[in-house]
Amino acid sequence: MIYLDNAATTLRKPECVVEAVTRALCSMGNPGRSAHDGALSASRTVFEARLALAELFGAESPDRIAFTANATEALNIAIKGILNPGDHVITTALEHNSVLRPLYEMEDKGVELTILPADRQGRLKEADFEAAIRANTRAIVCTHGSNLTGNLVDIGRVGQIARRHGLLLVADASQTAGAFPVDVQKMQIDILCFTGHKSLLGPQGTGGLYVREGVEVRPLLSGGSGVQTYLRRHPPQMPTALEAGTLNAHGIAGLLAAVRYLQATGLDAIRERELDLMERFYRQVSAIPGVTVYGDFSQRMRCPIVALNVRNYDSGEVSDALSSQYGIATRPGAHCAPRMHQALGTVEQGAVRFSFSHYNTEEEIEIAVSALRELAQEE
Ligand code: ALA
Repeated sequence: MIYLDNAATTLRKPECVVEAVTRALCSMGNPGRSAHDGALSASRTVFEARLALAELFGAESPDRIAFTANATEALNIAIKGILNPGDHVITTALEHNSVLRPLYEMEDKGVELTILPADRQGRLKEADFEAAIRANTRAIVCTHGSNLTGNLVDIGRVGQIARRHGLLLVADASQTAGAFPVDVQKMQIDILCFTGHKSLLGPQGTGGLYVREGVEVRPLLSGGSGVQTYLRRHPPQMPTALEAGTLNAHGIAGLLAAVRYLQATGLDAIRERELDLMERFYRQVSAIPGVTVYGDFSQRMRCPIVALNVRNYDSGEVSDALSSQYGIATRPGAHCAPRMHQALGTVEQGAVRFSFSHYNTEEEIEIAVSALRELAQEE
């Protein structure tokens, strides 16, 4: 299989990640619940992972990183934990349903919601953020990179606007964590939500959120914490406050190994390789008659994603043909990004998304380009 669905999940993981998860499965007890070797080994690994992620994201301390099962859980915690009826919140058409659906739920509970539009290339207008601010605006919830077009948002500029107006910025780094430098303090991000299984190269079932010191987030869950057992309420200190129940320490062990791999190899080197592959693909497919490519390719800094359609063919049929006839894995359809498809005018057709990893090869790109040439010629 030629795997070009890395924006959904990176399938090929570094060998050290596989080894770390296997070792953890064979040796770890429950983190933070006892002091025998198995439990201590799990606790140490979880702490080291917190430390590694705090360093990666420029957090003020490892305690500000809480682990979750995925970015969706992190975003639900953030959105439902900071907004109250009567608040106003600003988000964008670029967002994934993991942002939109929790926000719609909050809207049903009396939160006012503004969704900033995107143009036909999936771009936002920076001035729209400032223009949307009201007296009761509490937060901006914004992605760092679109999972459909790959367009980046200048989250540092959004952070400046939010801070200047005393708003919280919740950033969704699902598509960018591990691929692009994210510095929460420099970018003035108050809550950063991330997943472990995409560019961070870790296992599925890992993710988390950074919460700036001083930001109060109401937890979604309460329960076992391993500490302060006789309190009626879940302990309020970070990160325990947002981590009820046993953590996925086996997965977190893999995520730690992945972060170390990224740091040893260099985020920039990995991203440049992915962008080279993406450009090679984009340059060729955008010249094929009958192929329509979506998104803004005027900047090199973008997620390594090319979303396209072939003539007026249904994206699911094209993706199936790529898989069954050529062994190429892509993602068709709506990508959980309904507003983005509305902006691009692709609600009916969907789009076929190709997304690249540094493990892909030039040869794989050439095979994918030839496959598209053939499909575009078919009646
Ligand atoms: N959010 C993931 C994607 O974009 C699953 O495919």
